[in-house]
Formats: sequence, structure tokens, C-alpha cells
Amino acid sequence: MQIFGVDIGGSGIKGAPVDLDRGDLAQERFKVLTPQPSTPDAVADGVKEVVEHYGWTGPLGVTFPGVVTNGSTIRTAANVDKGWIDTDARALLGERLGGLPVTVVNDADAAGVAEMHFGAGRDRKGTVILVTFGTGIGSALFIDGVLVPNSELGHLELGGHDAEKRASSKAKEDHDLTWEHWARRVSKYLAHVEMLFSPELFIIGGGVSRKSEKFLHLIHGIKAEIVPAQLQNNAGIVGAAMRAVEAGEA
Ligand code: BGC
Repeated sequence: MQIFGVDIGGSGIKGAPVDLDRGDLAQERFKVLTPQPSTPDAVADGVKEVVEHYGWTGPLGVTFPGVVTNGSTIRTAANVDKGWIDTDARALLGERLGGLPVTVVNDADAAGVAEMHFGAGRDRKGTVILVTFGTGIGSALFIDGVLVPNSELGHLELGGHDAEKRASSKAKEDHDLTWEHWARRVSKYLAHVEMLFSPELFIIGGGVSRKSEKFLHLIHGIKAEIVPAQLQNNAGIVGAAMRAVEAGEA
């Protein structure tokens, strides 16, 4: 079965039809830049452009980089336009796409769902936490394979600061940190998460997961196993499509 997945990020909106049997993209993905300012209206047009690129007319799942309740309502918008807060994203996108059924899900939760099913978390029981390092820090918390949605562990406090401001990959770029320096911050951050949840496994996702050989060996002081995400940059798209099925849209 194929369902369309869209990943709304701080810099790009990307999507593709997803082959849900294989957990992979059925066609090469298409990306447009996230409009600035990233207002609901402008982003909805971007999503439309991506969906229309494929002439898709079926159900779709869409990720959003903030808290999303009931597959629809946006509650926070740390790294996108604040106009999203309290937006009914399912209604907005559905209307913009001519009435297609839409499910919306937090971006890290979507990536986590995909990794647990098709990637690094397959068949893993107990507490598993996927952490995505990108513009912000996203998290997906699983207990015996079941998602606890909107865990938002990227906003834990680290040394008196919002953790994602210190340890995201954007923070690494903004402050020109070496891999060693950044990995020290990531170690401190993961130690804090470990103190709270004692997971069996951390899965490291987001754009940096492609470069795991540069920093995984520099992360110290964590008891849990730490592995890179396997679906890497497509996890959000795949997970969004999976959530659309779970939500009964397909
Ligand atoms: C948001 C999360 C999101 C993460 C990654 C954070 O700032 O609060 O909801 O998952 O960024 O995009």
C-alpha cells in the first residue's frame, strides 16, 4: 500500500509517496524551501506544491516541528512562525489540498514510529528514546514499542538553558563548535535524559545521524546503548504516512 508522507521542517518541506510494506519511499522525494516567515498559510502552499508534484489524490500524513494533539491541533511552534499555535492544521491543509484526508503528527514522533518499525528500533522492547538533532532537538519516547506522544525532551533545561539552544546541530553551527565540543554537550544532555527515563536504547536521528561516525564515539558517560537512526532523513516522511494509516485516514 502507498500513502503520501510530508515532512515540514524549519528549512525544507519534503515529501514522497511511501511504500508502507517496505517502509521506504516509493519515488524519489521532492523538496521545496520552507517559506520565511513560515506562516500557516505560506507553509500550506508549500505542502500543496509538494503533493501536486506527484498528482497525489489520496490520504496523507504530515509532520510538524511542534506539539500536535489529535492528529490536528498545533500547540507549540519553537522554530516556525508562532501563528501556527492553536491552528487546526488538518483543516487548513485538507482545505488547501481540495479535501484530501490529512493526519498531522510531531516530526520526531513520526521519525520514531518509522525507526521502531523499520529501522534501528525494530523488535526493541522496554524504554527506547529517539532523539533528533537538527534545527531543534526532537524526541520520541516508546514503552514496549508504544509511542508516548509529544514528549518534547528537547526543551529540558541544560545548564540553565533550553537544551536545544545548546546541543542541537543548529547550535553546533551557530557557535562553530567542534565535534568534540558539541559531543560533550550532547553527552551532558543524554545523561540528563537517562537520569529521568533510564532507557535501554537511544536512537540518534535528524540530519546529523548521517555523520554518526564523526561523533558517536565522542559521546561518553551513558549506560544505554546508542545507535544512529537507519532511515535517516526519510524517517519523518515514512512515519507520517504510517501515522495516517494508524489514524484511520487510509
Ligand atoms: C519542537 C519539537 C520538535 C523538535 C524538532 C522542537 O523545538 O518543540 O516539537 O520535534 O523541535 O523539530
